[in-house]
Amino acid sequence: METKLIYQALNEVEADAVAVVLFEDGEGLLQAKSWLDEMRASGEFTGKSAEMATLHQPQGVKAKRLIAVGGGKKDKFDAAALRKIVGTVVRAVKQKGVKKLAWMLSGDNDTVTAEAAVEGAILGNYEPIMNKPSSEAKPLEWFALVAPAHLAELEAGLKRGVILAEAQNFARDLGNQPANLMTPTIIAQQAQQMARDYKLDIEVLDRERMKQLGMGSLLGVAQGSDEPPVMIILKYQPAEAKSAGDHLALIGKGVTFDSGGISIKPAQDMEKMKYDMCGAAGVLGAMRAIAQLKPNVPVTGIVPSVENMVSGRAQRPGDIVKSLSGKTIEVLNTDAEGRLILNDAITYAKRLGCTHLVDAATLTGAIVVALGHVHTGAFTNNQWMLDRVLAAAKEEGENMWPMPLDDDYRELLKSAYADLANIGPRWGGAITAAWFLREFAEDTPWVHLDIAGTGWLDEAAPNLAKGPTGVCVRTFAQLAARWA
Ligand code: BES
Ligand code: ZN
Ligand code: ZN
Repeated sequence: METKLIYQALNEVEADAVAVVLFEDGEGLLQAKSWLDEMRASGEFTGKSAEMATLHQPQGVKAKRLIAVGGGKKDKFDAAALRKIVGTVVRAVKQKGVKKLAWMLSGDNDTVTAEAAVEGAILGNYEPIMNKPSSEAKPLEWFALVAPAHLAELEAGLKRGVILAEAQNFARDLGNQPANLMTPTIIAQQAQQMARDYKLDIEVLDRERMKQLGMGSLLGVAQGSDEPPVMIILKYQPAEAKSAGDHLALIGKGVTFDSGGISIKPAQDMEKMKYDMCGAAGVLGAMRAIAQLKPNVPVTGIVPSVENMVSGRAQRPGDIVKSLSGKTIEVLNTDAEGRLILNDAITYAKRLGCTHLVDAATLTGAIVVALGHVHTGAFTNNQWMLDRVLAAAKEEGENMWPMPLDDDYRELLKSAYADLANIGPRWGGAITAAWFLREFAEDTPWVHLDIAGTGWLDEAAPNLAKGPTGVCVRTFAQLAARWA
C-alpha cells in the first residue's frame, strides 16, 4: 500500500473515500457541517468511538464518499485511540470497494499523530493470506493523511510509522506460517534475508557449534525433532555509539512448534502452537525496524529456535541437562521448553557483552489466566529497566503490566537432583517461569515479557486480522530509540 501526506482542504481531496473524525462532544473537523448536524440530530451518529456513517457523492466534495468516524470523548482521544480507529475504518472500507482512502488530520498534529495513524492503516490492511490464493481479501492500494499545512513533524511521523508497521507485519507474516513452512532453518533463512536487506551482521549457530559451546539445555529440547535447531544472532552497531558502554539484547522464544514433547499437549487447539515463535518474530521485526531507525545504542537480537517434538530420541521427564551457564536442570515437564531454550540464549547474550536484556516469549498458559489477552506480563530483576520498557510500551500503545517476582517464589523451583527444576507447582506458573529465567540473568538488568496472551488473536479485532499480532516490535524499537 502506498502511503503519503497531502496538504489540502477536505473538499479538494481526490479519493474513493475521505474520513473525518468527530467526537461525542460535538467537536471535530467541521467543513461538512450541515450533513453532519443532521446526522447527529437524527440520532444516526453520536460520535462514539469507531462509529461510522457514510455519505455517497457528497456535494461540493471531490471524494466519492465522505465517512464520519466517531472518536469518542475528545479528552480521551490519544495516539493509541487514533491507531485503533484508523485500523477499524481501513478494515471496514476495504471490503466495500474502497481502494484509496484519505484521512483528515485535525487539531494538534505532531509526529506521534501521523505515526499512529499510518500504523493503524498498515496494520489494519494486513491479511494472513499468503497460503490462500482463493482469498477474496481486497486490500487498500493507497492511504493518505491529509493535513491543513506542511509540517516537518508529520513527514517524520509518517516515515517512522511506515517503518514500524511494516516491521510488525513482517513479524506477523513469520507467525502466520504453519510449522511445516516455518522451521528453525527457515526462520534462520528469513533472518539472513532480512539482515541482507537492512545491512545487519548475522551469525547462525548450528547444532555442532552449540554442542561445542555447551548449550545442553537448548539441545535437550531439540533432540526429539528431525528439524535441526539454530541460534540466530543479529547485530546492530550504531555509527557512533555514544552511550556509556550500554549494549541492549533482545531475545525471542522461537519454538516453531510446541507439541509439548513427551509431556504431550491435548489435541484440542494444538495447531495454535505454531505461534510459539512469536517472541522470535517480535525480535526479528524489531531488528528490522532498528536497522532503519538507527538508534544510538548497540542492539543484539538473539533467537534460539527449535521444534519441540515427540520421538524415540525425545527428552524424557526426569532427564537432567547441563546449561551453558554450568547450572544443571531437572526437566520435570518437557512442555516447559521455552525456558530451557531461553536460558542458554540469556547466558550467551551476557557472554557477548550485552549489558541489558529483554526477552519476549509465549511462555505460559498461566499468564493468560492472570492477564487475559489484554496485557503482556512484565517481570524484572531491575526496577529501572522495567520502567524503561513500560515507558516505551506506553508510548507505542502496547499494554504491559508489572508482575511480582518475590524470593518466596524462587523456593518453588528447587530440585533434589539438579541445581533447579524446570517447573514449579501449578499455581503462580507465570511467576515461577520468570524466576527460572532470572536465575540465568543473575545481576544483569533484565526484563521478561510473557506474551502468551497478547501474541495472537483467536478472532479478528475490528482493527486487526486474527492471528499473530506482532506485539513487542514497536516497544522494542522504541526502547532502543529512546535509550541514549
Ligand atoms: N508455549 C507454551 C505456553 C502457552 C500455552 C502459550 C498456552 C500460549 C497458550 C509453553 O511452552 C508451555 O507449554 N507452558 C506450560 C508450562 C507448564 C508445563 C509448567 C503451560 O503453560 O502449560
Ligand atoms: Zn510447551
Ligand atoms: Zn512453548
